[in-house]
Order: sequence, then C-alpha cells, then structure tokens
Amino acid sequence: MKHAVLGAAGQLGRALCPRLAGEVVRLTRADADLTRPESLRSALGRLRPDVVVNCAAYNLVDRAESEPEAAFAVNAWGVRHLAQVCRDLGCVLVHFSSDYVFGLEEPRWTPYHETDPAGPVNAYGLSKLAGEYLVRGLCPRHFVIRTCGLYGLGGSGGKGSNFVETMLRLAGEGKPLRVVADQVCTPSHTVDVAAATAALLGTGRPGFYHLTNAGSCSWFEFARTVLEQAGVRANLSPITSQEYGAAARRPAYSVLSAAAYEALGLPPLRPWKDALAAYLEERGT
Ligand SMILES: NC(=O)c1ccc[n+]([C@@H]2O[C@H](COP(=O)([O-])OP(=O)(O)OC[C@H]3O[C@@H](n4cnc5c(N)ncnc54)[C@H](OP(=O)(O)O)[C@@H]3O)[C@@H](O)[C@H]2O)c1
Repeated sequence: MKHAVLGAAGQLGRALCPRLAGEVVRLTRADADLTRPESLRSALGRLRPDVVVNCAAYNLVDRAESEPEAAFAVNAWGVRHLAQVCRDLGCVLVHFSSDYVFGLEEPRWTPYHETDPAGPVNAYGLSKLAGEYLVRGLCPRHFVIRTCGLYGLGGSGGKGSNFVETMLRLAGEGKPLRVVADQVCTPSHTVDVAAATAALLGTGRPGFYHLTNAGSCSWFEFARTVLEQAGVRANLSPITSQEYGAAARRPAYSVLSAAAYEALGLPPLRPWKDALAAYLEERGT
C-alpha cells in the first residue's frame, strides 16, 4: 500500500505519516501545490499511490476574511483539482475538514453529527465546506474527516505555533492572558487524530467522519487547564469574542460527535484533558 501525503510537513501531516501502514511518500507544497493543477497531476501520476492523504490547507482563519480568494484557491479549487486527479488515477482520497463548517445554527449545545446540515460563519469555513462537497462529488473513493482545535509538536505549518505553545509563551513572558470563554469546541491532539485516522483507513470503509478528542471546553477553560497541568502561574482572564475582536466570526459551539467512527467498533479517542497531559509530557514540560 503506497500513501502520498500532501501537507506532510504540517502539524497533522507530521503526526500522521509515521502512523500510516505501508510506504509513505511525504509531499510538501514544493512537490505538489494545490493551486497548480499540473504539479498535482505530474507528482501523483509519477508516484501512482494507492491512497492520497490531504493534510494541506489554507488555515489562516482571520486573514481569509480579507483574502477569501486565497482560501478558496487552496481549500476549494485546489481540492477540486486533487479530487479529479485521484478519481482519474483510481486512488482513495483522504481529506481533512473542520468544525468551522458549523456555527450558523445558534443557539446550539449538542454535538454535531456527521449528517447535520452545515452552515459556516466565516470565509475559511465556507472554503472548507466547498472542499468537502468537491471531494464527495468528484472522487468516488473518499474519506472526509472533520476535526477540531488541533495542536501538535512543532506547531502548525501555516501559523508557526499552536494554542498551547502560545499560552505557555505568553505566560512565560509574564503577559496577561485574555482568552475567549464563549466559544466551545474540543481541542484535539494531532497524534490522537492521526492514530484514529490510521485505524479508520484500516477498516476499508470510506465515508464521512468526525474525529476529535472526547469532551468539550471553551478556549478559556482550555487555557486554564494548560497552565494548571504545566504548573505555570499566569494572569488569565475570560473575555467575550466581541471583546477579543477577531476579524473572523467563529462558532459559539462546534463540538463534533464521532458517531460514524464509533459505529465501526473503533475505540473513542481519549478525553481532551488526558490528551493535553500527554502532549505536555511529550514536549518535556
Ligand atoms: N489547525 C486546526 O486547529 C484545525 C482544526 C480543524 C481542522 N483542521 C484541518 O486539519 C488539516 C491539517 O491542519 P494543520 O493544522 O496540520 O495545518 P498546518 O500545520 O497549517 O499545515 C498545512 C500544510 O498545508 C501546506 N499547504 C498550504 N498551502 C498549500 C498548497 N497550496 N499546496 C500544497 N500544500 C499547501 C503547508 O505547507 P507550507 O508550509 O509549505 O505552506 C502546510 O504544511 C487541514 O485540512 C485543516 O483545515 C485544522
């Protein structure tokens, strides 16, 4: 089994590559650029993989509000090219999407199932939702996997860090931390999402799935738990999304139910607090 992984140097890609069974070819933007269809077709045509895994994305949620074309060029039209190439080569396409395809339905306080209607509230979420439809419509053999709040060793390729590292850095600098308490989701460790993805691919059951750690919290609660578990003192206070004033609106609640994954008899991912403890240990805190 040969896997070609786009976005292999990103946060999720780095965790996933070592967990895939068989041969794994790691691709970066220089090898296969989603915005250049000919580079995708020639790289994948040469490799002839059985499975293409797309961990690449445009992930700058706030910046996407002022440059939606850039987000769509990667997350929608780039994914469209990729789905067409995978269809033509007869490969399975594994594609990652986001909890940010939700948020329009308010108030909402129960986890979203895979079959719930989506409704994004920002340009990034809209571009990711378009990508999902394009994969499902164009490439018959696909896994579309929505995940949420990723953090992993080395941080995000696109953003250069992750939420946990940012909290620890600001606390270390003695800066006051003001974190939104009115956005609830599930922070998820990349190694857990990667291991669950590998298990899911092993079932040979393509489809549409949600994969996150278990449970939920606000970003404020996550920050407080990061500091508690790391044994770091900080001046942390809760604020509202309005006070924070980000360019992009975000869902107030975007917790995902993993019902489709669990229906395959696969074990649920561990609770987010346990996953965070493991991450802090891995990074040597
Ligand atoms: N991060 C989160 O909290 C989160 C939450 C929910 C869902 N997701 C989804 O999970 C997946 C993985 O996210 P992540 O956090 O691992 O992202 P990441 O660390 O930012 O990595 C994304 C990768 O995509 C590559 N890339 C960007 N534009 C590209 C292009 N035009 N062609 C080819 N490669 C390109 C980047 O390569 P370069 O470094 O060369 O630019 C980077 O290595 C994405 O689908 C994302 O939407 C993420």
